[in-house]
Amino acid sequence: MPNKIKIVEDKSVLVVHGPNLNLLGARETETYGGTTLVEIDKSLVRLGKELKIAVVSFQSNSEGDLVSAIQGARGGLNGILINPAAYTHTSVALRDAVLAVALPVVEVHLSNIHKREEFRHRSLLCDVVAGQVIGFGPTSYLLGLRALAELI
Ligand code: DQA
Repeated sequence: MPNKIKIVEDKSVLVVHGPNLNLLGARETETYGGTTLVEIDKSLVRLGKELKIAVVSFQSNSEGDLVSAIQGARGGLNGILINPAAYTHTSVALRDAVLAVALPVVEVHLSNIHKREEFRHRSLLCDVVAGQVIGFGPTSYLLGLRALAELI
């Protein structure tokens, strides 16, 4: 009897959402639009199916939990799509976590951070991620997932 070999072709990626993104759809809608985080996550799962990539999402308002989630991607997942939100501009810990996991990481932002206040122009992650997609609202996440799919 031939051995049954199960080939698992699908890749998996972690989507990490930083602080206050749980309030999307209600929060500063003139800047971030009316789409909720649940809707964004659903659209990523849908696109993931098309691309044959399993998508797992995680949101936290706590820097340490975000670091732990990034670390947790080691050894099992193939890449990370991250919107670090306000921690983009402040967090050496998230930058170090991205360096530590040594996985392909794509940074996304709903808004164009370069058109906004000066303190948002700097990302502490920009030079340790594979690339950034910014300014396209929820589409930034979808474009980011497509870019990540090319890297994994
Ligand atoms: C954001 C931009 C950040 O400056 C801000 O703190 C956010 C959201 C964006 O997706 O546009 O919370 O990351």
